[in-house]
Amino acid sequence: MSILSTLFKHSIGQKLIMGLTGLFLVTFLVVHLSGNLQLFMSDNGVAFNTYTKFMTTNPLIRVAEWILFAGFIVHIIYAIILTRQNRKARPVRYAYSNPKGSSTWFSRNMGVTGSIVFIFLAVHLYMFWGIFHWGGGEMTPVNDVQKYVYKVTDDVTAGGNTLVSAGDYLDEKMVATLQSQNVAQVKAISMYDISKKSFGNPLISLFYVIAMVLLGFHLNHGFQSAFRTLGFVHEKYTPFLTKLGTAISVLFPLVFAAMPIYLYLTQ
Ligand code: HEM
Repeated sequence: MSILSTLFKHSIGQKLIMGLTGLFLVTFLVVHLSGNLQLFMSDNGVAFNTYTKFMTTNPLIRVAEWILFAGFIVHIIYAIILTRQNRKARPVRYAYSNPKGSSTWFSRNMGVTGSIVFIFLAVHLYMFWGIFHWGGGEMTPVNDVQKYVYKVTDDVTAGGNTLVSAGDYLDEKMVATLQSQNVAQVKAISMYDISKKSFGNPLISLFYVIAMVLLGFHLNHGFQSAFRTLGFVHEKYTPFLTKLGTAISVLFPLVFAAMPIYLYLTQ
């Protein structure tokens, strides 16, 4: 009971939860970044669509998704609680009381960078996840739907029979059935198509690049304070962890930002 009340009520416990959920979210970024690297393959999206098909259909990933969302929600709720507590405890902001202090603007404004990353996430989830699940799709030749791993978005029926259902990915048998019924096109959608269309818009690509810069600063400070809160203060390891955190905070946003830039330039 006392451990639980320390975790949930005291600022050190709350910081611990922020640090742990933050580090957990970074492990998601590792997976997300490595999977999204398929976007750089010049195969018209086959590898990327195969990867996103796995991510959106595998039952274990669906469970992991709920854990991921829980991680985000806990991280955000505790960020709000801690920011409010800090404001109450220190009504005069650092900027005035300690103008030449060692803290940077970004370390003092984790709430600002975090909120922008949150807005980015909302837009990002709508653009990819939302459109993919509810966006409708476009008429696409049956062979392309199978070859480029598109997801069918509308049922296809003939003579009262359902030939394929919304949500299906076509295999050879389904393609043969459709062709035997003279169905040449079906409504379908792919994550690669969504990516190409979205990042073909310079404003969306620019928004992504700006969001990645802020994500970098958010990660950099988050890393340093997570390790500090978790008690990893060591003469030998702390400088290494600081460098590792900085390397990840630069490298990850850089590679993520390269994705919209690459797709914009290769339209
Ligand atoms: C800029 C390059 C990015 C691209 C091209 C991209 C692409 C995608 C795609 C295709 C999906 C749906 C399929 C999947 O789950 O893998 C997705 C989901 C998601 N993305 Fe991204 N993403 C990018 C950056 C980011 C960043 C920087 C974050 C976090 C700060 C992020 C957070 C998420 C989350 C939380 C989901 C939902 C995960 C799920 O439902 O399993 N993405 N993204």
